[in-house]
Amino acid sequence: MNSKKLEILNTQDVLSMKGEGYYSQKTAGAKTAIDSIQEILEKSVTPLPNKEILRFADYGAADGGTSQELWYNLINLIRSRGDDRVIEIIYTDLASNDFSTLFKKMQGMHGEKELAYQKIFDNVFVHGCGTGFHQQLLATDSLSLGFSATAMHYVSEKPCQIKNHVHMVGADIAEKRQFMDQAATDWESILLSRAKELASGGRFVCMNFGIDEKGRYLGNTGGHSMFGKFNQHWKTYLDQGTITKEEYINTTFAQHYRTVEEFCAPFNDKMSEVSKAGLKLLSCSTKLTKCPYRETYENNIGKMSKKEFADSLISTTRSWSETVFKTALSDRCENESNEIIDSFYENYRAEVERDPDGHAMDYIHIIMEIEKI
Ligand SMILES: C[S@@+](CC[C@H](N)C(=O)[O-])C[C@H]1O[C@@H](n2cnc3c(N)ncnc32)[C@H](O)[C@@H]1O
Repeated sequence: MNSKKLEILNTQDVLSMKGEGYYSQKTAGAKTAIDSIQEILEKSVTPLPNKEILRFADYGAADGGTSQELWYNLINLIRSRGDDRVIEIIYTDLASNDFSTLFKKMQGMHGEKELAYQKIFDNVFVHGCGTGFHQQLLATDSLSLGFSATAMHYVSEKPCQIKNHVHMVGADIAEKRQFMDQAATDWESILLSRAKELASGGRFVCMNFGIDEKGRYLGNTGGHSMFGKFNQHWKTYLDQGTITKEEYINTTFAQHYRTVEEFCAPFNDKMSEVSKAGLKLLSCSTKLTKCPYRETYENNIGKMSKKEFADSLISTTRSWSETVFKTALSDRCENESNEIIDSFYENYRAEVERDPDGHAMDYIHIIMEIEKI
């Protein structure tokens, strides 16, 4: 095994979502979560900065499918008020993202044509930006409204690999501390970058994965813990010799789930760089979005099989987690690593099919409305 694999990875190369529209097809919950904060976004486009061009940005947009209806509704609202200003919307994600599917969606060549707002409304221009959101991406003082959903839990780099788990939620105290410090530095960079981009009076609305007041987080809201299950099945492969110790350790999600306190810290300190840069927190709340696949199953007991539920649940977890497991096996040939990954998800899927009780991927988001004063 190449010892390079133990090096701390720059996460930007490896963590995009599965492409060709797979991401938004398989993540109904992410769309439900976004749609549920439509009102907050509507409030944010009421006092839009007095600029000739309305510039919007969607940070970490993946293929754009999950937020497309939100943007359609916001543009529709702006136009219905008689505001005909030029609208530029910049979709940002990592360079490895499938921007091609995103552009096709907005032009009505993929997905739901009735939401292809670039075609439907005049003077609306769609752009893509493939640079990570930890740095400034747009001209200073040019942004009217920034939005980001379910993306900023990704840290810019892993501060360490986690030895006995795959995610920081199961890391030991010292490892958790390193992730917390990295996430605090990243959060400050994210906010200072947005502070530069935003025009005065502009808003940044974000909904991020995090840990709520009850200690709940994605896939861990009372039943089985999804990250616990990932780890259990992956660890079995280590114990059986299917994967090596290095591969197991390298399987570390480049994510940190911040608590409400961690998210709010820069705003609570009037002397912080973020406060000095003119960012003010208008509101912060937490939200649980029920796993749509679990809900469909529960609403169709007797009509939907355990297998159908298990298939749908594991597909959604796979849409965003697969790259992490695959990257850890990147020294193997493609066929071999595909076989391991397929059987890993199949084992988890089969467990859910045998006994679906307690399996779900409920979302926990921390929602923040931020204003540039
Ligand atoms: C779970 S998806 C969320 C997509 C969409 N916003 C939604 O809510 O459905 C997270 C996205 O964040 C992107 N991402 C991760 N780190 C990023 C970074 N540093 N800069 C920009 N995008 C990033 C990933 O590539 C991925 O497309």
